[in-house]
Amino acid sequence: MYKSIKAAVMGSINMDIILSAERLPETGENVLGSSYSYAFGGKGANQAIGLSRLGAQVKMIGKVADDANGNRLIENLIKNNVDTSGVARDGSSTGLAAILIDGDGKNRIIVYESANSEVVPEQAASLIKDIDVLLVQFETNEEAVIASVNTAKTKNIVTVVDCGPAKNFSLEKMQGMTILTPNENETEALSGIFPADERTALEASRVLYERSLAKFIVLKLGERGCSLYDGKEISFFPAYPARVLDTTAAGDSFTAALALEYVKSGDIKKACDMGNKAGSIAVGRVGAENSMPTEKELIICLKK
Ligand code: ATP
Ligand code: RIB
Repeated sequence: MYKSIKAAVMGSINMDIILSAERLPETGENVLGSSYSYAFGGKGANQAIGLSRLGAQVKMIGKVADDANGNRLIENLIKNNVDTSGVARDGSSTGLAAILIDGDGKNRIIVYESANSEVVPEQAASLIKDIDVLLVQFETNEEAVIASVNTAKTKNIVTVVDCGPAKNFSLEKMQGMTILTPNENETEALSGIFPADERTALEASRVLYERSLAKFIVLKLGERGCSLYDGKEISFFPAYPARVLDTTAAGDSFTAALALEYVKSGDIKKACDMGNKAGSIAVGRVGAENSMPTEKELIICLKK
């Protein structure tokens, strides 16, 4: 579907430890867990693998340490056909995320960024060439994210900014990206408005548009699907029905599919719909990288 597309992801690479419990503990409380596992994650690596599983040619830019987790994460990226020549190995320690999942499949995540925050702007800037699209998130170094997006813009590369994790990032320093795509909490962190309904989604999108001057603002709205604002009007795209096991990386899966469909067709509405399809597949699976659908799975979903 997307095999002629060349993409780069400048982003985080984490080892995830996933712990599930029927109910998550309150402060000072202990609860019994029902299962745990280690899994490959990091918003950047998830999106790189998401793009690759959908058929694109993908280059990863990031940093890990020369430790056991770093080595396993790199091996896994290579296994998923991601070019890791842009991943530096001299970080202080490889990024780690502790993911707590409750009985409804909703998560709470603590990320120890470590090597991810040590990515330097020069590392990214030199690697952003000969690609159609660049994806970034906010889980590495802010200056490196800004430099990457600004470099890509000068080369007319499509730029897709996934705003996770939630923080008030300096959007003004990389204005004019192609797509800015936050989830609900990230929208609130960046605009001060939680997109609880159509009116607040529009208000928040307007603030984000003014701050970022992005061509499109695409809000990921969980089980409500997503919204699209183009500076004039907002439209809503409902989610596809899904049995929710774990929402982790639904956003990463959404962003990868959104980016590729936009580059392929130039049709942002079609791209929003494709993002929803990929997201609905991801919520039905436990884990991050494990949630990323393949081209075949998305095609089956398209026929439904
Ligand atoms: P993450 O848990 O990775 O941080 P996120 O919060 O960034 O995810 P969400 O908005 O929760 O992102 O989900 C991304 C997309 O996944 C949604 O826009 C939607 O398309 C799809 N999605 C999420 N939850 C559901 C659901 N319950 N049913 C169907 N689709 C869903
Ligand atoms: O988006 C999901 C990811 O967020 C997890 O894989 C975890 O590593 C955190 O970065």
